Amino acid sequence: MTKKKMVIFASGRGSNAIALHDAVEAGTIKADIKALVCDIPGAPVMDRAREWGIPVILADRKAFDSKEAFEAYILDAIAPYEADVICLAGFMRLLSGDFISHYEHKMLNIHPALLPSFRGLHAQRQAIEAGVKIAGCTVHFVVPDMDAGPIILQSAVPVYEDDTEDTLAARILTKEHPTYIKAAALFCDDKLTVRGNVVMGTQE
Ligand code: GRF
Repeated sequence: MTKKKMVIFASGRGSNAIALHDAVEAGTIKADIKALVCDIPGAPVMDRAREWGIPVILADRKAFDSKEAFEAYILDAIAPYEADVICLAGFMRLLSGDFISHYEHKMLNIHPALLPSFRGLHAQRQAIEAGVKIAGCTVHFVVPDMDAGPIILQSAVPVYEDDTEDTLAARILTKEHPTYIKAAALFCDDKLTVRGNVVMGTQE
């Protein structure tokens, strides 16, 4: 099976991008990472990508007059890589339906909550405030709605009474990396099919 051409989008620290990269290097995910797209000047994840020798595309939203121009720039910049899969790894921007339509069922995202609960920002804080006893993370296909779309994999962690947003986020993060790796590996192995809202092929 030929390797998939992957492009990663990230905005900050990049621990999920690093996890994906390491799994690609280990052969767990059968892909080549062709480029990293980042929307935040100075984000640490760009330094990691440069260390890996991966082209970095910086698209600073503030440098564009409109969201359309910002997205058109990214689409043009990544077009040469002919991505089979785009992994949003802590990319903190909502992409338009037009953008997503170019890569329908080829874009994956990770969200630090058990969707469909706690979409949007501060998902871990939302979980604590709701008093749930179980939290976790979700890897899903991207659709125009924020933190929605067919769910590929989820992993759960307990929520403790003395948890803060930070302690819960750290516990969830330990699950994010293996969950994203497994979901991306399944995708790159052509194991996944989407039927409506349901992703088939995730169970051994
Ligand atoms: C992760 O918790 C991810 O789920 C969320 O943003 C965070 C990014 O962390 N969307 P990192 O940049 O991958 O370390």
